[in-house]
Amino acid sequence: MTYVLNDYVAMVSDERRTGAYVRALQCLVRPDSVVLDLGTGFGFFAVLAARLGAKHVYAVDPNDAISLGPELARDNGVSDRVTFFHADSRDISLPERANVLVEDVRGVLPYHADRVRLLCDARHRLLTPNARVVAERDHLFAAPVRARPDWSSDRRVLQDGAFGVSLEAIARRTADAWRRGRIAPDQVLFGAESIGSIELATVQSPNFEGIAAWTVPAAARIDGFTVWFDAELAGGERFSTAPGPAQAVHGSSYFPLREPIEVLPGDGLRFRFVGIQGGSDYTWIWECGCRRGADAAWTPGPRQSSIGATLLASRRLASQSQEHVPTLGEGGCRLQRATALIDGIRESREIAAALAATAACGFRDKDQAFAWLVRVLRNLEVGHEPQTEVEPRDIA
Ligand SMILES: C[S@@+](CC[C@H](N)C(=O)[O-])C[C@H]1O[C@@H](n2cnc3c(N)ncnc32)[C@H](O)[C@@H]1O
Repeated sequence: MTYVLNDYVAMVSDERRTGAYVRALQCLVRPDSVVLDLGTGFGFFAVLAARLGAKHVYAVDPNDAISLGPELARDNGVSDRVTFFHADSRDISLPERANVLVEDVRGVLPYHADRVRLLCDARHRLLTPNARVVAERDHLFAAPVRARPDWSSDRRVLQDGAFGVSLEAIARRTADAWRRGRIAPDQVLFGAESIGSIELATVQSPNFEGIAAWTVPAAARIDGFTVWFDAELAGGERFSTAPGPAQAVHGSSYFPLREPIEVLPGDGLRFRFVGIQGGSDYTWIWECGCRRGADAAWTPGPRQSSIGATLLASRRLASQSQEHVPTLGEGGCRLQRATALIDGIRESREIAAALAATAACGFRDKDQAFAWLVRVLRNLEVGHEPQTEVEPRDIA
């Protein structure tokens, strides 16, 4: 997910989450602290750690928001003690190892994108052996829920079609699509159960499996499950993404059942939840079993997987396999030619003209080539050198 500036503002203004991080940093930062802010956004925790007296802070993020970091550091009088890297953390090296790590590279769930791999890489190359981590562990919970009214009406439209158009093909693909969004506390049918936790200072595997079981207290119709986390930070600080008024900015997850289940008091319910990291994203697998009364046998439900919805992008999936043999399409030819032309001397207009004159690149004219070049330069020109200059910018 690519965040925009206002997403970062929303994160900082989530008082419960940010307040917990701030107090945890207050607990850990000492005058001899060298802090790594992994996924710094516009640099809020980096600047805060410097203001708390850290000897030096290294802040890294591939998002363009980091270009505001030097300005933020200057405005807060800590420019000399914060170094920003506009890069993926796996591509940087530091002049010294950090002894404090602050990060919140979570999404709706704490297993998110490359988070575990980033933590392992940082531990291996960028942190001292006993480095303190601000986020110490994330506890995962699951609970059966009723669907939100708008999600139920989406489901009806998919089943019945819309304005005479059958949506069966879409329904087949989205039957196992999980959703992000707020869940109201009254949608949660009965108590949350723990399905596991992550020790962030030692976690190795990006994959996850957890099981929760309930004895049903009251008759209900279960549409799906929500999974959330409670974060435990240094100094005993906590915040939660549980549905409710205190829910953190991360929001809720909803894993629908293909068919709702009607349960009665005394029935047993079992929910198995698996996360498998592949490429830069997760495949989620979930199944819900039920038993009618304490002595009955368990009836397993279907095994559902988010891969069904991802199949829409089967070419992208194939390219994530180790056995995949890549070939250059038109986009690759354009990139190959462009990188050969970028020599630190030619201007963009000359490069665009040369690209437009190369038939294999398939550009209509040099304006189209120029527009394409501007887009790709955003990635090609990102370096891993520390960024210390303040670049004045208008934020529209
Ligand atoms: C949830 S935001 C947290 C922003 C800010 N630290 C905060 O807590 O308010 C996660 C950040 O991690 C960054 N991130 C994701 N992958 C990264 C990577 N490979 N290296 C460095 N940062 C990364 C994202 O760009 C995003 O800015």
